[in-house]
Amino acid sequence: MRQANMTKNKKTFISRGLEPLAPRRQELYNVAMKADDKARVWRFFSLFSDYAGSGYRQAEAFPDFSDGPLFPTSRRVKAVPTSKALAPAAKPLGESGPILPRSGDSIHLIASEVNDCHACRLCEKRQKAVPGIGSAAPLVMVVGEGPGADEDAQGLPFVGPAGKLLDKMLAAIDLSRDSNVFIANVVKCRPPMNRDPEVDEQESCAPFLLRQIGLLRPSYILSLGRVATHALLGCKDPITRIHGRFFDFHGIALMPSYHPSALLRDESLKRPAWEDLKTLREHINAQG
Ligand code: URA
Repeated sequence: MRQANMTKNKKTFISRGLEPLAPRRQELYNVAMKADDKARVWRFFSLFSDYAGSGYRQAEAFPDFSDGPLFPTSRRVKAVPTSKALAPAAKPLGESGPILPRSGDSIHLIASEVNDCHACRLCEKRQKAVPGIGSAAPLVMVVGEGPGADEDAQGLPFVGPAGKLLDKMLAAIDLSRDSNVFIANVVKCRPPMNRDPEVDEQESCAPFLLRQIGLLRPSYILSLGRVATHALLGCKDPITRIHGRFFDFHGIALMPSYHPSALLRDESLKRPAWEDLKTLREHINAQG
């Protein structure tokens, strides 16, 4: 009887796109706890995940705990990131509201404006600006943080070792900059010494990226790494926490994932990054 109930519960969770925890862990968690104890547990895991994920404490609203089971029944589940529901963006890059193309705009016009741009200090040291490249009707737009040395030399995005890895991973899910992907960056000129682009640099470059998105209207955006994801979603969550999930970016499904440079530094991230790409492919296939 207990077995039959467990099987039924399992089916219900899975049909909702949710995965049940192991029954033993469910029993363990289902202990009546005082609000103080729950706050202590929450604080411990929250600190651990922030420092392990980003090395920094993230400002976060403290949940309002009450006495009772630590995990109410509806939360004793782990979301499998195939759910079609999109979480709302916190505060997207640029103005809120729909992103519309400017009249008379074109990818070539944007590229020539990028090449002539002197709006921020990044233009001073660049060899070549990197406007972006790829399909004129992309299924997916990949957004990185900014050009590195190879990209700066060639004027093309993701052409160094990280780019080669990216191309391989995209090819494994039938995506390519030659057919159905457009690749762009938050900032179009290389930050010196590959430092993170400053907020004012991101802001002065944002109109180019927003025009590219508005014009191309990709079905999906894959934001690679912390800088691109934080810029687009306006959030501060570590990538370790939000990768592989879908967020709403002005009506476009945006999935954050790991930056390929991070995968080259830390092999263990390749597996979760690959899982993210498989999730993206499953989602694309499910949409027909
Ligand atoms: N890293 C990025 O974020 N973008 C590039 O174009 C290359 C490396």
